[in-house]
Amino acid sequence: MKAATDWHDWHGPYDDPDSPLSRRLRLVQEHVDRWLDERPEPVLTVVSACAGQGRDLLGVLARRSDAARVRATLIEYDPRNAAAARAEADRLGLAVAVACADAGLTESYADAVPADLVLFAGVFGNIGDADVRRTVAALPRLCAPGATVIWTRTRRAPDLTPSIRTWFAEAGFAETAFHAPDDVLFSVGVHRLTAAPPPLGPPSRLFRFA
Ligand SMILES: C[S@@+](CC[C@H](N)C(=O)[O-])C[C@H]1O[C@@H](n2cnc3c(N)ncnc32)[C@H](O)[C@@H]1O
Repeated sequence: MKAATDWHDWHGPYDDPDSPLSRRLRLVQEHVDRWLDERPEPVLTVVSACAGQGRDLLGVLARRSDAARVRATLIEYDPRNAAAARAEADRLGLAVAVACADAGLTESYADAVPADLVLFAGVFGNIGDADVRRTVAALPRLCAPGATVIWTRTRRAPDLTPSIRTWFAEAGFAETAFHAPDDVLFSVGVHRLTAAPPPLGPPSRLFRFA
């Protein structure tokens, strides 16, 4: 039987700048940076599902002079990761709330959406295919008009990313980037909502984490 993942220790490879996880992080951060550069609004909202220690968003905000524009909610189940994210957000003086909650439940997003940027990094590789499909179909409910979604998924066989990209199109998103480097298994996708977003709606379950 496979040992359960320790989601605190899972962050260890971020200490090695050459690890695939660090390379993935840099790509996600590049797109968070680009999104901030492209959005002139004085206030922008971000929600991150299964945020871990929030290194993607917090790492970007730490070096930006316009970080005060961002109101963010990180939803993370592991209290150790939530505490690490909260400590870093506090240290940086950011308007970032960390909710220790189940990101698989839509009610966990009630105070955080509609968001201008929705981060789903490290989620789709840890939930069943049907849950990925259900979650992608529901993503517009988390989005403000014109929102961007940044997501990641391993391409370990069978590669689900072609289906995921189709599901995003069916849900009313246009793809703005998709990175699938040859020498690693991770991929990073970026989609912008072009359809009108529906409200969050009644509570429902999107996914159960493996
Ligand atoms: C693969 S890690 C990704 C962390 C972060 N997004 C990143 O890319 O660095 C998955 C994270 O999801 C968290 N998690 C697991 N089940 C969850 C749930 N039901 N709701 C919220 N977070 C969950 C784990 O504790 C872990 O920190």
